[in-house]
Amino acid sequence: MFRVFVFFLCFIACVANVNGGTTAVIVPDTMAERVRACTICHTGEDKIERDAYYPRLAGKSQGYLFNQLRHFRDGRRIYPPMAILLENMSDEYLQEFAQYFSLLQLPYPKPEQFSMQAEEIALAERLIYSGIPEKDIPSCSACHGDNLMGIEPAIPGLLGLSRAYITAQLNGWRGGSLMRSRTPECMYEVAKQLSDDDVNAIAKLLARQPVEGKSRPLSELSPELRKRCGHQILLSEEMK
Ligand code: HEC
Ligand code: HEC
Repeated sequence: MFRVFVFFLCFIACVANVNGGTTAVIVPDTMAERVRACTICHTGEDKIERDAYYPRLAGKSQGYLFNQLRHFRDGRRIYPPMAILLENMSDEYLQEFAQYFSLLQLPYPKPEQFSMQAEEIALAERLIYSGIPEKDIPSCSACHGDNLMGIEPAIPGLLGLSRAYITAQLNGWRGGSLMRSRTPECMYEVAKQLSDDDVNAIAKLLARQPVEGKSRPLSELSPELRKRCGHQILLSEEMK
């Protein structure tokens, strides 16, 4: 009888708690919990399909991710729905996010499918692999690695991104919106010289390619390009 009574008391107490809402729900402060706020939009372990716009974070270099998180928090890269989450986070906290996502390994989604005319392919290939020396535009591969998988720690890979995302980023540097910071920014210097046709062709060709290979070490970046992107490289080395 006593047990039933205790059970009954407990039952009342539990119901009262639920109704009163006074019991604090203790959520463990693990990275898996923290990143739930991020994987609503970004891919996470339970969501691996390619989204048209939200960029994948898994496997990107820690230095690059950390730079971007600081840029969003400090208003140098603009996307308010996300920046609001980062508002009061310290550098150390942002670094933990950057490290978590850089170590996260997820399968890549299938490449996007686009039909492209032969001239469009030729244009994109020229820009990506040869650049335009007379306009002082280095090839994308000179900075993003010969396999386009990025150079550690500051230059991200260009494969595994959607066409919509690549187009938006290049246009963000080119003009109109001030979505990404410009100075001192080697990527801005490149993007501002591209035409609409260049951007369209590049974004399609990149999004059609499967992801293969690994990012390259900084030693593979020529001293001249290293100097041009010195600001980004320094920023991502600050975390060591
Ligand atoms: C509301 C959706 C949303 C949420 C929630 C969100 N993000 Fe983002 N995130 C985006 C979008 C969209 C972009 C691309 C913005 C742009 O430049 O256009 C982005 C970009 C990024 C980038 C830069 C990626 C790159 O390749 O340059 C990082 C890093 C990032 N987010 C980390 C996070 C982290 C960490 C969290 C959780 C604390 C988070 N995001 C939460 C939507 C979101
Ligand atoms: C001089 C070196 C350099 C060249 C050449 C270059 N990039 Fe970049 N790129 C960078 C750096 C550095 C970043 C990282 C910028 C940052 O930290 O915000 C970057 C970032 C990007 C991003 C953002 C990726 C992401 O995950 O958000 C895209 C897209 C991009 N570059 C495309 C290109 C294309 C296309 C070309 C060729 C037309 C090109 N880049 C040529 C240095 C370069």
